[in-house]
Parts: sequence; C-alpha cells; structure tokens
Amino acid sequence: MQKKDIKWDELGFGYQPTDFRFEARWKDGEWSEGQLTDNPNIELTEAACVFHYAQCCFEGLKAYETVNGDIVTFRPDQNATRMSKSATRLEMPPFPEDKFVKAVEAVVRANASWVPPFGTGATMYIRPVMIGSGPQIGVAPAHEFIFRIFVMPVGAYFKGAVKPLKLQVADYDRAAPRGTGDIKAGLNYAMSLHPTMEAHRAGYAENIYLDPATRTYVEETGGANILFVNKEGKLIVPKSDTILPSITRRSLVTVAKDILGLEVEERTVRFDEIKDMAECALCGTAAVLAPVGMIHSEAGDIYLPSGMDEMGPICKKLRETLTGIQMGEIEGPAGWVHKIEL
Ligand SMILES: Cc1ncc(COP(=O)(O)O)c(C=O)c1O
Repeated sequence: MQKKDIKWDELGFGYQPTDFRFEARWKDGEWSEGQLTDNPNIELTEAACVFHYAQCCFEGLKAYETVNGDIVTFRPDQNATRMSKSATRLEMPPFPEDKFVKAVEAVVRANASWVPPFGTGATMYIRPVMIGSGPQIGVAPAHEFIFRIFVMPVGAYFKGAVKPLKLQVADYDRAAPRGTGDIKAGLNYAMSLHPTMEAHRAGYAENIYLDPATRTYVEETGGANILFVNKEGKLIVPKSDTILPSITRRSLVTVAKDILGLEVEERTVRFDEIKDMAECALCGTAAVLAPVGMIHSEAGDIYLPSGMDEMGPICKKLRETLTGIQMGEIEGPAGWVHKIEL
C-alpha cells in the first residue's frame, strides 16, 4: 500500500486530520449504527452539555505497523471497557464494546496509508471521544450524544524521547477522594492544564500528584501512571483508587512478572520512599515508558541513581519488551496484539 508522503521520524505529538473518522449518534434512547465520514468538524448547539458541564470522556490507544507489515492495535478491548466505565460514571450511554473495537478497526483500515511504517519510531494515535451534544441548561445529563473515533500519526510524546525527565510535585490535587480520578473524563484534564503549564514554565516536563486526602502517597502524573524499581530490582507500582487504571501499566506488570521474571509489588507508595528507589518512569499509551531522572518537591530535589543521561536497566528492558510485543518482534500474551484485516 502506498503510504502518505510524511517525514515520519520528524513527527511530534499533535493533531493532524486524516482521511476518515467514525461517528455514531445517540438519539431517542439508542445509538445509531455509525459510519465513516471525511468531515473532521462537528456542528453543535451553543447549549450542548459538553460546553457547560464538561460531559465528555475519551480514550487513547495506538495502531502499529509490525515487523512483518501487519497493522495491529494493542488491547483495544481494554479501552472499550474503560470507556464504558467512564461513560457510565458521567451518565452517558456506553457505546457497545464489541462495536467500539469494530469501529477502531474500521477507522484504522480506512486510514491505513497514515500508519507510520515499521522502524520509523512513529505510531498511529487513535482518539475515541464521547460528548453530551444535546442542549442542557439546567444541571443534568444531555439527551443526545456523539461518539467519534479519529486517528493521526504521532512521534514521541515527550521531546527527547528516552532522555530522563525532570518532574515536580504539584501543589494542586488531581482528583478528589471518591471522585473521577479513575475514569478518563475531560474534566480531570481541564483542571490539570494550569498546574501543567506552571510545571513547564518552571522547567519540568510534568507534575507528580500526591493522594488528595493525605498528600502522603504517590498518585500519578497529569497524563501517565508512575512506576518505580527499588534497589533490589523489584518493580514497585503505586496503587490507588483515584488514578487512571493505565493499560500500559497493567501490561508492564504482566511483562515484568511473566516474561522478565521480576518481582512486582502493587501497593501504596509513600512519597518519602522515592529517595530510596533505583529507577522511576512514567507509563502510558502516549509516553510508552519514559524514564524520570529527577523530582523536585518542597522537601528538596531527589535525583534517581539511574541519572539524567540514560534510562535505568530495568526500565529499558520493560520498554524494549513491551514495544517488541507491540511491533510483533516478541510473542506477547494471547489477545494483546489485535490484527486489523486490510
Ligand atoms: C491520567 C492518565 N494516567 C495514565 C494514563 C495511561 O493510561 P494508558 O496506559 O491506558 O494509556 C493516561 C493516558 O494515557 C492518563 O491520561
């Protein structure tokens, strides 16, 4: 297939309209079948619920060209399930999970010439989004909804790809106890924009949020989960009800245990334990696994022993194994790599 004429290795992480997107609409109590469209725009009433009461949730996953030229996605069923949970929590009708996966396949297939070739380091980012589109002025859910999936080719989320990042501990909280921290609601990101810009202005790539109730435990960053490796080489993964259950993080835990034979602890992690860790990284679909070299907090700066030049050895193994599975170079657990028939 003829690929688009793009400098794949120069791509950043940004919007690029591609040829087709999927759209389905909820009206009169049911979802339409949905179809592909070439129109990247949505026309909405000024009274749409999403504008006023942030009735919106979304997902993020990727398509890859593998070493043998197949186009695959990674665990799209998990995104379908998470989006159902997000929609339900926000009083939106979940889009049927089997149809979600079929719609992802249809959009990727229709835009196959935009999937970056194997070996370029670029991937196709897939963005499903659902909004309350019907008019709503009293505080209540909309009666009409739009579900869309669009795609674009992307490069690394953090510039400098695998260079260790500097983070700061946010003065702000990301999510309330028993709030919406565990779903992918737009509102969680609206409130993170100001802290994120403050972090960037101060020279940090991202914020680490602490648990909102006690500010004792590590939660996650604005757009990725966090993981640590302790000095005994054990993977330590923060557990919390107010963080997004990252599909990348859950996959890395399986890779660590079942493929690399590492010991894994999933538990609450006190912020004051970080000074004793050997490695730290962010993980998510967009970031994949990005090493952290330094963390700034009011109590002082923590420099991870893995340093500011390179990724620590265990993080490197985890990243290489996960990306190897996604790119078809390493056999992963059954069902993880989902081939798109072209
Ligand atoms: C707040 C937050 N945490 C974690 C993640 C990682 O989740 P996943 O690995 O499912 O992409 C994301 C999205 O990428 C996110 O926005």
